[in-house]
Amino acid sequence: MEAQLVRSEHPADFPYLPPVPSSRYTDPGFAQLEHDGLWMKNWLLAGHISELPEAGSYFLFQQLDQSVIISRAKDGAIRAFHNSCRHRGSALLLEQKGKAMRFVCPYHAWGYSLEGELKSVPDLHDFTCLNKADNGLKSVRCEINRGMIFINFDEAAEPLDDFLAPQSAQKEGYPIENMVVKDRLLVEMDCNWKLALHNFLEIYHVATVHAKTLAPYLNSQSFVIALFANGHMRFATRKKKGDSIFDQQLYKPDNVADVFSECTIALPTFPNTFFALDPGGFSLQSFWPAGPDKSIMEVRLMGWDVDTEADAQHWQAMNGIVRNILSEDLCLFRSIQRSLTQGTIPHLTFGYQERALYWFEEELDRRIGITSIPESQRVTQVLSEQMVR
Ligand code: FES
Ligand SMILES: [Fe+2]
Repeated sequence: MEAQLVRSEHPADFPYLPPVPSSRYTDPGFAQLEHDGLWMKNWLLAGHISELPEAGSYFLFQQLDQSVIISRAKDGAIRAFHNSCRHRGSALLLEQKGKAMRFVCPYHAWGYSLEGELKSVPDLHDFTCLNKADNGLKSVRCEINRGMIFINFDEAAEPLDDFLAPQSAQKEGYPIENMVVKDRLLVEMDCNWKLALHNFLEIYHVATVHAKTLAPYLNSQSFVIALFANGHMRFATRKKKGDSIFDQQLYKPDNVADVFSECTIALPTFPNTFFALDPGGFSLQSFWPAGPDKSIMEVRLMGWDVDTEADAQHWQAMNGIVRNILSEDLCLFRSIQRSLTQGTIPHLTFGYQERALYWFEEELDRRIGITSIPESQRVTQVLSEQMVR
């Protein structure tokens, strides 16, 4: 960080970052490669354990054209199932979240246990050879790390903890598992999901876009990036006033390590999640595609488990502050997409301060399989030497 504060150029050993082809953000064929090679094979953030407070609590994961039930069973275990009845495919649950001790299909009332077993079929005698044991709900892999719930549509994927391991030490001293979701917002965006994510992987834009809102809190010059295996990263930025917008909380637990007060520690988690751990709480953001040029930002405001009127007011105010800061970024996204879609800008250009964006794009190609991507759409692999091992 000290070296960052006094540097006047990029490090001498930093490689040239080749141009990144614009068609990665516009081509339906590239979106299909991402669907098959990324979304259907990677660990994806679905939510937080605090969203399932008791047996029967559930919420739905409804991104990527999927509908998945994430629920807590009587034994306390959290499981995930496709939200599809085994009879003729109707969704079982229609509300985004709620409580159900049994999943009863709204079409013909087949009933399933919280463990996914088919328990009841009206007029069972009219079905020849229906074996209930063979008609349980289709499960989806679901694992938890530090209170964060992830799902994976690939049965053969590596364990979640192994996937997150290169970044895990960075969360020590911050009890994410004790937090609660204070609010959840969905923001529709007129751009490719990767363009929206890029915006959170650099602070080069903070001095211009957030001159009044974020710039006063961050010493942008001190920004350091660690690139980890599996596409994960860690950003650290010294705080200017000893405070970030999330530090103005009334309550802060005393078991948060000092480093989180001194610096804003942000942990981009591959492929699509970003959060910065401040002692007062944080905004947990995930970016999802909704077509090649449309995307959704899912935001969870994470705070501490205190139930006071002052705390409720604080988070209500935070909702407005976060929306305001996001709107400063969002108003430019549509114009970026237009420049790429119309072919005005054939490629994107990344500098040293934008190396995290390039690392993300490199990892995306490695996940899809470099040789599966048309040569004209690949990024050149150049940053592995810069990775923290
Ligand atoms: S589709 Fe669910 S009971 Fe018929
Ligand atoms: Fe921003």
